[in-house]
Amino acid sequence: MAKGSSRTAVSFLVFSLVTIASAKVVFEERFDDGWESRWVKSDWKKDEKMAGEWNYTSGKWNGDPNDKGIQTSEDYRFYAISAEFPEFSNKDKTLVFQFSVKHEQKLDCGGGYMKLLSGEVDQKKFGGDTPYSIMFGPDICGYSTKKVHAILNYNGINNLLKNDVPCETDQLTHVYTFILHPDATYSILIDNVEKKSGSLYSDWDLLPPKKIKDPEAKKPEDWDDKEYISDPEDKKPEGYDDIPKEIPDTDATKPEDWDEEEDGEWTAPTIPNPEYKGPWKPKKIKNPTYQGKWKAPMIDNPDFKDDPDLYVYPNLKYVGVELWQVKSGTLFDNVLICDDVEYAKKLAEETWGRSKDGEKAAFDEAEKKKEEEEAKKDPVDSDAEDEDTDDDADDAEGDSSDADVDLDDTNEDGSHAKIKEVGTSETKEDVKDEL
Ligand SMILES: *[C@@H]1O[C@H](CO)[C@@H](O)[C@H](O)[C@H]1NC(C)=O
Repeated sequence: MAKGSSRTAVSFLVFSLVTIASAKVVFEERFDDGWESRWVKSDWKKDEKMAGEWNYTSGKWNGDPNDKGIQTSEDYRFYAISAEFPEFSNKDKTLVFQFSVKHEQKLDCGGGYMKLLSGEVDQKKFGGDTPYSIMFGPDICGYSTKKVHAILNYNGINNLLKNDVPCETDQLTHVYTFILHPDATYSILIDNVEKKSGSLYSDWDLLPPKKIKDPEAKKPEDWDDKEYISDPEDKKPEGYDDIPKEIPDTDATKPEDWDEEEDGEWTAPTIPNPEYKGPWKPKKIKNPTYQGKWKAPMIDNPDFKDDPDLYVYPNLKYVGVELWQVKSGTLFDNVLICDDVEYAKKLAEETWGRSKDGEKAAFDEAEKKKEEEEAKKDPVDSDAEDEDTDDDADDAEGDSSDADVDLDDTNEDGSHAKIKEVGTSETKEDVKDEL
């Protein structure tokens, strides 16, 4: 009785502490005045003149011309910029990593992701090879890659999310949120809508699998895994084997100039016999003693050692963008790192949520203007090259993919280099089984 009531008291206390505790904001960047004092542009790729310039702008279309962010402004360039924040550990806390990104250029190939880095980083040298803890955000290339990356570094190895989470591909602002909970579950949100959730244990190969197929187990000799058998009742019809495969063509006639003496006796050519149905096979029926496909029982994996701190990044300290872009125009804004899901939701609503309709209207207006201008140009073009109409049509269709040629350049960005091979031990087992 006494025990019970003290437990209630404790849980009440915990509950009130939780409700009183306010959100801890580790880093929040809305790119207002003074942002340049917080962000360090890296010298990475500068010597090769391959470092792109950032444009501080609200973009070509927006819901609020005063709400600026940073936008990649040069094609075929590398971009690296980062900001430092007070060191943060997400142990026993929720980690929320959020930012908005807009691809004004109709991105054909390039990243729109950000990274969280730990420990000491020389921000002037931040680049593709700088180790990171988390890489999160959209990545687009051609028709095959249109996904949200969520790469987690664990013991020095970058691990890709095993599930494909599609990203947004239009030219408007979208908010990407990665949430990591202390119970090692996570969720990915786009525009405050959950797109994926699950567990660090199952959706990345951070640790060896908990359970494996018993390698010692063998299929019992008498295991019946034939789903279908020949019907023992089915009998070969009498005379079945006497039906010839081919029969003489009754329509054929001896050629006029056939000379029996020279050519031998004329016989009609043969044709396939429509009555012939191939060698006789009994009917197949369901096997009444079928036991199903044999599967090895699952056992605890001796190589599995749980890590209760699997989700923990003990010394997060920097947030950065490190990208390769074929076509520039990606605009980042409203970067947030905090421990409170609700706070992040509210920030997204107050920023993206408030301006998205205005931005869409401005975008539609810009598209309309572009179309009108193209229409104005068109009559002149078709007058000059009347016989070229076919080519013109092709050009219009190909418009959206004029960067396709360059797709190979992608992901040459070093951050992808150390990614662990995807493919679980389980799928490999399956392959072995098939063999
Ligand atoms: C920066 O962005 C604005 C708005 O899109 C544009 O007008 C301007 O030309 C850009 N500046 C550079 C240097 O790219």
